[in-house]
Amino acid sequence: MHTLYFDLRDTKGQQKAIDDKIFSAAKILREGGLLAIPTETVYGLGANALDAEAVRRIFEAKGRPQDNPLIIHVTGQQWLARYCEDVPPLAYVLARKFWPGPLTMILKRKPVIPDQTTAGLDTVGVRCPNHPVTLAIIREAGVPIAAPSANTSGRPSCTTAQDVLEDMDGKIAGVVDGGPCAVGVESTILDLTCDPPRLLRPGGLPLEELERLIGKIEVDKAVTGMLGEGEKPRAPGMKYRHYAPKAPVTVVTGAPEKSAQIIVQRVGPTSGVICFDEYAHLFPQQVVQTLGSASDKQTQAQRVFDALRSFDGSAVTEIYAQCPDNRGLGLAIGNRLKKAAGFHVLEAGAEPVVLGLTGGTGAGKTSALRALESLGAEVIDCDALYHQMLDNNRELRQEIGNAFPGVFGADGRLDRQRLGQEVFASKERLERLNSIVFHHMEPELRRRLSDNAGGLVAIDAISLLEGGLDQMCDRTIAVTAPLELRVRRIMARDGISEQYARLRISAQKPDEYYRERCDLELNNAAESAEAFEEEAKRFFTRLIESIKEEKAHGKE
Ligand code: TXA
Ligand code: MG
Repeated sequence: MHTLYFDLRDTKGQQKAIDDKIFSAAKILREGGLLAIPTETVYGLGANALDAEAVRRIFEAKGRPQDNPLIIHVTGQQWLARYCEDVPPLAYVLARKFWPGPLTMILKRKPVIPDQTTAGLDTVGVRCPNHPVTLAIIREAGVPIAAPSANTSGRPSCTTAQDVLEDMDGKIAGVVDGGPCAVGVESTILDLTCDPPRLLRPGGLPLEELERLIGKIEVDKAVTGMLGEGEKPRAPGMKYRHYAPKAPVTVVTGAPEKSAQIIVQRVGPTSGVICFDEYAHLFPQQVVQTLGSASDKQTQAQRVFDALRSFDGSAVTEIYAQCPDNRGLGLAIGNRLKKAAGFHVLEAGAEPVVLGLTGGTGAGKTSALRALESLGAEVIDCDALYHQMLDNNRELRQEIGNAFPGVFGADGRLDRQRLGQEVFASKERLERLNSIVFHHMEPELRRRLSDNAGGLVAIDAISLLEGGLDQMCDRTIAVTAPLELRVRRIMARDGISEQYARLRISAQKPDEYYRERCDLELNNAAESAEAFEEEAKRFFTRLIESIKEEKAHGKE
């Protein structure tokens, strides 16, 4: 099978030639074939929505998951009653104002729409695209056209006929070339089967315009963030990693000057950058795709998929993307970028969530840190950092040398044992050392925190909470465990005798000490490290969410 190519853009008034092409295009659809069609949003991969077998072929050509329903495309509101049950008056109000245009309404379906089209749901998405050629083809075909975006499933949507050929050549009967898409992001999906109506996908029609006409609209959780395990989005398609180029994407939100700065700090020679025109000059070494001016969301919407797509042919290993604010088309543009990033988002200007962990040996601090790492945290091991600084931070070495004369040998090496003996002999001296270390570590830690804007940082500090490090944390957490469990864990972990394990524990501060000084306690009585790690993940997920909420309210 090869792909036919209809270029309907410039037939210069040859009405007959155009009519012929529209007739053949409609014929393909009527006969159960697949035809890519232009719309104002993105190109669609069309088939007769009433023909279950034709619809099945759409899923096959795209490699689309079977549980993801299709939108049917019609020529106007007069088609609503044919395919939908109990159509509310609101649907007609919306259709009158916004059709043809980038609005899909979810309504109850009539049985004439086959299960294949709606993936078995009792609702159906209906939209009237604003493209004269496609409207003419649907009118000529006389049936609604089921059409998902014409990309291979998981890839960025297609905004030109060339994009479609790249993904679909050989798999479909024809492509109708209607020029580049004017809007560039898919339609806004509004569920009218609930009250208040619910935004399932932000798109080419801004939420504000809908709200101005019909009042309050609920925004589905899948629009702004990643869903948790077991959570189901109302638009099944919103759960898939989407629009994704092959290299991992990080989205940076916030004021453009700030997000540009964050990206500058992070890029390397193999990074790709998606940025507003004004900032392209900051990335002379990187592969750059510009989105248009920071103030021009219409252009950004037109370019966003092309920008994401373009990286697939290049050798970049990671991609950073600037992101517009959520107003107007920004909500849809940001949503597509964030979905491409699997919601890996840094917030420029926002502080990271910082958690300080402490606790004695064998309690489970390492597992707790692993849990945090799996939630995306950068873990800073203060002990390792301290030793690294002792080796190469001149000021720190000098100050320690002044406070504790003789701890540095003639060869410049630190005599750790001697320093240990000195400070553990007196509380004042230990405090002195802690404060020196903290004084020098603080700027380094602050730098790392600011690199992690909007992210998550875990500070692993067995003894430094005393030094004042807790002031940098949103919460300090004592990881504790029942004594007998700790003894057994240490014996197994380090292959030592029970007696020695008990000795090691008694040489450390008791759980009580950590418990009193920390904001929270995470007690580890789990049977296995894996079970505790899972428990810790749940504990931290809740905690991080509440800290983020606090931070957001603090700013209002
Ligand atoms: O702009 C657009 O809407 C484009 C052009 C071609 O019209 N089409 C498009 O279709 O974006 P697609 O299949 O790529 O995305 C349709 C989205 C999916 O997330 C799907 O889960 C959701 O709409 N959807 C379809 N029917 C639904 C229903 N009955 N209930 C909830 N969500 C539905
Ligand atoms: Mg799609």
